[in-house]
Amino acid sequence: MTEKSTENQKPFSDKITGILNYSAPNLALAIGYRTGLFDVMDTFDTPQTLKAIAERADLNPRYIKEWLGVMVSGEIVEISIGEDGDNRFYLPKPHGDFLTRRAGNSNLGVYTQEIPLLTSCAMEAVIEGFTSGIGVTYDRYPEFQAFMSQLADAKHRQVLVDKFLPAVDDGRLIGRLQSGIRVCDLGCAEGVALMLMAKAFPNSKFVGIDISREVIETAQSKASRQQLANLEFVTLDAATLKDNREFKDAFDYVTAFDAVHDQTRPLDVLLGIRHILAPGGMFSMVDIAARSDLADNLEHPMGPFLYTVSLMHCMPVGLVDGGTGLGMMWGREKAVEMLKKAGFQQVQVLEMPEDPFNLHYFSFK
Ligand SMILES: C[S@@+](CC[C@H](N)C(=O)[O-])C[C@H]1O[C@@H](n2cnc3c(N)ncnc32)[C@H](O)[C@@H]1O
Repeated sequence: MTEKSTENQKPFSDKITGILNYSAPNLALAIGYRTGLFDVMDTFDTPQTLKAIAERADLNPRYIKEWLGVMVSGEIVEISIGEDGDNRFYLPKPHGDFLTRRAGNSNLGVYTQEIPLLTSCAMEAVIEGFTSGIGVTYDRYPEFQAFMSQLADAKHRQVLVDKFLPAVDDGRLIGRLQSGIRVCDLGCAEGVALMLMAKAFPNSKFVGIDISREVIETAQSKASRQQLANLEFVTLDAATLKDNREFKDAFDYVTAFDAVHDQTRPLDVLLGIRHILAPGGMFSMVDIAARSDLADNLEHPMGPFLYTVSLMHCMPVGLVDGGTGLGMMWGREKAVEMLKKAGFQQVQVLEMPEDPFNLHYFSFK
């Protein structure tokens, strides 16, 4: 019995050691991305000395030397010995293809920021939550929020007008947007998606709603700089929309990009969306692709990463003021159930080739 349990312990301790060894470099990867060190190393076609790297990066060699220790032992950067006996360092091009700013759609380097930012913003508050059960407010996450907006902005610019909208309602939405309809984006943040749409479809009218006065003010000033006359923004709690008279039946199309799973009162928000849609109006909810039962997510290619982001941000912000706290991995079964509860009886759950980590939930009123 004792022998057997000792046998079993070894692989498990190996696993934990592996996690320690392969999660710790995330921090140095984030530093390498943020400081531009990967971009600098990527400019070299041959192995280089520490001095050459530090000179080109214009950064402190002692810090770079220690950082290279992480990179070499973590098998990100290759080490060799030059004829003079000094170490040389090289970032292989296939690694640069994923870690540098030139990587475009394949850029995984940018995601290395996420866990370090969440740790610095919310580690203590989340640990307190384990005792108190209370949520963590958005104002604890300023750097993380700014980072996530940058990510979302980049994605909207790449896919929204060229790929996402042309696929909605089997291509029928585009013609209607061109002719002129009324559109609302819920949880619009700084309004990037709306500004792209308002520019592309000048005959349609767009309204952005967000609970944060700060982001709405930023959105307003960006929109006025672009002189977009067909776009306005409103600061409003989406959970109150279901009783709002001004917006009853006011929109032909409502979007919610990555804005429902963080809600403290998600069912009220969905009821509100139905309330503001005109009869026959369309709703697109884009939210994370996962299943609702944890046991069904074991094969998810980024399960541990996404559950971590949810634990550190999505669930705690959704628990504020006694909120529902769905978490990012609430999953398609729960999402469809809640949409139906809100009155959206026929919900299509669509995969998006341009965005495999999200699902498009589409329904008519
Ligand atoms: C993750 S961000 C998504 C932003 C944007 N839709 C995008 O695609 O980048 C979620 C947004 O929902 C907003 N939000 C959260 N709760 C809200 C509520 N009850 N009513 C309106 N907006 C809300 C937040 O302020 C935040 O800007």
